[in-house]
Amino acid sequence: MARRPSTDLQLRAPDPRRDREALFDLIARCFPMPDHAARLAHLREGYIDHSHYDWAASRIGLIGDRIVTHFGVWDYAMRIGRAQVRTGGIGVVCTDADYRGRNLMMQTVEAALQAMVDDGYDMSVLFGIRDFYHRFGYVAAWPEMVYTVRLEDLPAAKAPHGLRRGRYQPSQELAELYNRYAAGLTGTAVRPTYRRHSPRRPRQLHRWGTGDAPEGYAVIEDGDEALICLDAAGEADAILAALARAARRSCHRSIRFRGLHERSALARRLHRLPGSATVYWAPSGGAMIAALNLRAILEKMRPELARRVKGSALARFQGRLTLQGGHQRATVALDGGRIAVADGPVVNSRLRSASHLAQLLIGSRDGDEMLRQGDLQATGDGRILLPILFPAQQPRLAQPDQF
Ligand SMILES: CC(C)(COP(=O)(O)OP(=O)(O)OC[C@H]1O[C@@H](n2cnc3c(N)ncnc32)[C@H](O)[C@@H]1OP(=O)(O)O)[C@@H](O)C(=O)NCCC(=O)NCCS
Repeated sequence: MARRPSTDLQLRAPDPRRDREALFDLIARCFPMPDHAARLAHLREGYIDHSHYDWAASRIGLIGDRIVTHFGVWDYAMRIGRAQVRTGGIGVVCTDADYRGRNLMMQTVEAALQAMVDDGYDMSVLFGIRDFYHRFGYVAAWPEMVYTVRLEDLPAAKAPHGLRRGRYQPSQELAELYNRYAAGLTGTAVRPTYRRHSPRRPRQLHRWGTGDAPEGYAVIEDGDEALICLDAAGEADAILAALARAARRSCHRSIRFRGLHERSALARRLHRLPGSATVYWAPSGGAMIAALNLRAILEKMRPELARRVKGSALARFQGRLTLQGGHQRATVALDGGRIAVADGPVVNSRLRSASHLAQLLIGSRDGDEMLRQGDLQATGDGRILLPILFPAQQPRLAQPDQF
């Protein structure tokens, strides 16, 4: 297709009052649901309105008075071990069908990435189409994984005390419980994220506990072949017992877990039961991540990096390590378990990656594998520091937090 140049695109943050209706109309046309009204309701009931959508960091492109592009940013804190980094979750990226193929999204994304950096974001995560986002510095973040366990393979157990069923809506008490169980799990979001669930499909909440506050919960959806668990927190055996009861009631013979963190207590329990897992890992499309501010990320990771070093054979190590990726560079100084992020010249010990540094920072992959595949280069002490400072984390973002 011959590319028509565009010189008249105006880029700015959408105004929540002035631009809201036109913006929602654009999104509803670009991401059609069975009917336009259903999509508008979805945007109004919780996906954008009443949510952590960031009107200041998101970007729209206008030609004349008409909004023709949108790049949406949702503001949340992502865990990297015990550290938290400010992350822009990206959604409803679209160009008006009449204006596609004119380089307009290219310009909109560049403006939005700059706005995120200026507004203090450290990283950005999205779930996207294939072969598109790599051009803006995003790389695959983690695979999509689905665990399936048959009802007959679950341990026989009574349903937990005080089990109640209802329609799912996020709440502060569920968020607090989730945060307790998600502590230290890389890639997870600190809740609350979405304040309201705007259902495309209704979801059920099974919660239990003997007092007012829940001791555990599971969010489920009826699938064609299995009961689907989209989110859960609490003691692993109690979750499995509640799910088994729900599956029996809905005549499902197996339970499927989507977005389950592989290092969660629930996943560790499942690993000891018969079951199957399908893993879908794509180099582009699916969950993708970009490091927006390397220095700020390392600053926020300092206590986490110190904890990793102190628990290792390099606890007494003294030296410096430069991380380099794209146009970003920062140096970490190690001094007997203390970590500082330093300016100053590039040092001999280096970890360098043209486009995969974000994977290293969140531990998407084993560092050795990255070296073997040529996605990372290590020099000097970089080679021995790599598995200590940046071990694989099996990061994952739970389904209800996705944008
Ligand atoms: C995807 C979409 C946003 C692209 O917008 P656009 O304004 O046409 O994109 P641009 O003209 O700025 O194209 C930028 C680059 O991406 C490429 N590109 C455009 N659409 C693409 C697509 N669907 N898949 C892969 N690459 C695409 C272009 O070829 C161009 O690459 P080049 O500079 O190397 O030639 C637009 O097609 C759209 O709104 N689609 C429907 C909604 C959607 O699927 N959004 C993505 C959700 S994750």
